[in-house]
Amino acid sequence: MPKLTIDGKEIEVADGTTVFEAARQADISIPHFCYHPKLSIAGNCRMCLVDIEKMPKPAISCNTVANEGMVVNTKTEKVKELQKSVLEFILINHPIDCPVCDQAGECKLQEFYMDYTMTDSEFHEEKVKKPKKVDLGPNVMLDDERCILCSRCIRFCDEITHTSELCFSERGDRSTLTTFPGKQLDNKYSLNTVDICPVGALTSKPFRFQKRVWFLKHVPSVCSGCATGCNIYMDYDDGKVWRYRTRDNESVNQCWTCDAGRLSYPLHNEKRVTRPMVRKNGVLEYSTISDALGEIARALSSLGGDEAVLVGSAQESNENNMALKKFGQTCQIKDLQYSAKPKDDADADNFLIKADKNPNRAGVQHLGYQEFHGGIGVKVVLALEGFSETHLSQLREEGPVAFILLATHLGPETELADVVLPAATFGEQEGSFTNFQNRVQKFEAALIPQGMVLPAWKWLEKIAQELKQPLQLSAEALLQEGFGLKFADLGTEGKILESKN
Ligand code: SF4
Ligand code: SF4
Ligand code: FES
Repeated sequence: MPKLTIDGKEIEVADGTTVFEAARQADISIPHFCYHPKLSIAGNCRMCLVDIEKMPKPAISCNTVANEGMVVNTKTEKVKELQKSVLEFILINHPIDCPVCDQAGECKLQEFYMDYTMTDSEFHEEKVKKPKKVDLGPNVMLDDERCILCSRCIRFCDEITHTSELCFSERGDRSTLTTFPGKQLDNKYSLNTVDICPVGALTSKPFRFQKRVWFLKHVPSVCSGCATGCNIYMDYDDGKVWRYRTRDNESVNQCWTCDAGRLSYPLHNEKRVTRPMVRKNGVLEYSTISDALGEIARALSSLGGDEAVLVGSAQESNENNMALKKFGQTCQIKDLQYSAKPKDDADADNFLIKADKNPNRAGVQHLGYQEFHGGIGVKVVLALEGFSETHLSQLREEGPVAFILLATHLGPETELADVVLPAATFGEQEGSFTNFQNRVQKFEAALIPQGMVLPAWKWLEKIAQELKQPLQLSAEALLQEGFGLKFADLGTEGKILESKN
């Protein structure tokens, strides 16, 4: 356990720790491009140079092991001068087209230039020209001129996905990033290369030129694409979600997400149900809230509690499923089933992607729901959205007396429903999912629900009111009652549920 001093701070670190990591542990930041905590050391950008007493030359901190008694300086005039020179060198052939670069506003090169040089280049010769629009794969575009050859993207494909699509070709100032002959960058995690590219060389095809990043606001959230529940930021503006970005959670997704999950954000934007609908003469028509609630109350009160089924959803939050269960307790409805998307074994791996495409199966199961098994007969079904095609066919065949659905989107489920209430997506409400590890993870609201849209638990309050069985609900109280947790307990990493046994 060597002890060393960095910028006057004494710190003890584990054997083998690099000076760069030791500085991090001491909350001292050293500028860098090629270092990435999850990738091997490349040591090629030279930006992390530091001055180490008794060493003849400055050393790159990312590839220098901390030793007993070392005295390191990261902010001396000499170090700053070196970092300025490294930047000037990197910028020799860089196009400096920040005004039209998608990375502007979150670019390390731009940030370090502002921090360390802010001077004009002394290079007056013509810059090397390279292709500006290289199609690397289905989701990623390369601007070769902007690449600073840090090799993070190459190491990601070699060491994380083990797909090795990328390499450098040519030498010196002709060096270019490219794919191996006959290969495309089309692995299931390819958009992580855009995240880790420190400059605007790699851009996301779906997001590029859509929005200037400084207009985006963000909330911490959780991907709903599968049972892993990767942690994300939901970036939003103008009442719309524009992208998902990975949020670090060492216990769940480290600092990665899959492309499919990351690109599932149109969920919040398209084909939304924004008003209640009631089926009249076989046709689903828009209605007022009071007409829809009246229809629902009539259907539910025409039968006893035994003649109704409540269908929760492995696609919906812990809180909405708990609200439905509580509604059942109030109205003496005991049959609790849950719908879920089917498992997809072909789309699963040993990394993040799970065959279970539901973000909250563990949550509904914890609440005591049984997987959908039908037995509907002449009953009324009140359901949260999330039926698979198979479950829907079964429902269609069994033909409930009335099918009442709290839906976010128009689709096969609303086509079958008799009454539809417009429900909020998880991006429009506070709540939580329980992932495959039984980890309850919180998400926050990015958008304000439009039209007459409300979180499902609020609709359940209104239905109960209509039935003269008042229910007073809140997301916080539902989480507490169903899971014994408060949102504040969940922190940024979530909380594992204690086993019921
Ligand atoms: S494309 Fe980006 S991540 Fe890849 S080598 Fe170039 S600068 Fe580095
Ligand atoms: S692995 Fe699953 S939870 Fe993670 S980003 Fe992909 S779909 Fe979403
Ligand atoms: S971060 Fe150390 S050489 Fe690049």
